[in-house]
Amino acid sequence: MGKYLRHPFWQAIVILVAAYIVFKFGIAFVPPLLGIRSAPVPSSVVLQFMLTALAGVLIYVSENEERWRTFKQPIRAVMVEPDKRVARLILLVTIPALVGFITFDRVRPKVSAPPSLRSIHPAPPTQITFRGNTLRLTGLENPLRADGSIAEDLAVGRRVYYQNCMPCHGDALAADGYYAHGFSPIPLNFADGGTIEQLTESFVFWRIAKGGPGLPREGTPWNSAMPAWEDFLTEEEIWAVIIFLYEQTGWSPRTWEEVGEAAGAGAEAP
Ligand code: HEC
Repeated sequence: MGKYLRHPFWQAIVILVAAYIVFKFGIAFVPPLLGIRSAPVPSSVVLQFMLTALAGVLIYVSENEERWRTFKQPIRAVMVEPDKRVARLILLVTIPALVGFITFDRVRPKVSAPPSLRSIHPAPPTQITFRGNTLRLTGLENPLRADGSIAEDLAVGRRVYYQNCMPCHGDALAADGYYAHGFSPIPLNFADGGTIEQLTESFVFWRIAKGGPGLPREGTPWNSAMPAWEDFLTEEEIWAVIIFLYEQTGWSPRTWEEVGEAAGAGAEAP
């Protein structure tokens, strides 16, 4: 063992392996232990550092004639000495095979899903048809609020919510229903400020009525699991569940005076 460690060739190998471990893992894992934020090291950076380390090692081993000769000796031995035939054969097969494999792996076409950029709150249409009736969304207020009392509507909305929406949007309205984790995008978290608080009730009505299938093109990819509730709920039930969403979370809906035509537009999701 000691004989090997004093040999410049094996010293060089040990230094390069140690350098690789430090560059590849040390930089990413040691700073966090000291409470410093860090990130994985890109392989191009590791390659660059390794080339620097190799240059340093080569300068060291070639610095005097004697060390340079000892350094080259094992390489030369494997290349020419008759009793190293087996080792030579193994190296001559594995090195080209490895290079070939790495090259193949680099150029091999890889199929990956396109990055999904979708607008969480696409601009709503100005009008929709709900069960054959045309509803003008712009300027539309929740008709159930008109009579001043929402107690009864709230009770209806609560029933509608717990019968239909809870499995996805959750008991606490926080997108924590037992199905929620199965979906991408995940259901909307109503409890979170900045979701329904940002929207007018007419926007919410449109989303509940038309669901994922009714999203316009900027809301794609079309993998929203939100059902189109117009097929299952009446207009009153949807307005009632909207009242429930706001009452239960304590948010107030955005109003038309504030937002004008482009209600709820914008908000890009990563
Ligand atoms: C099968 C699961 C599922 C059920 C059941 C479900 N939703 Fe959703 N909902 C989703 C998902 C997923 C999203 C997020 C993707 C999207 O915006 O389409 C969502 C989004 C929403 C939004 C967000 C609209 C926006 O643009 O921010 C509202 C409002 C909503 N749901 C209301 C309801 C109501 C009310 C019910 C019950 C009548 C309900 N959901 C039932 C899955 C569900």
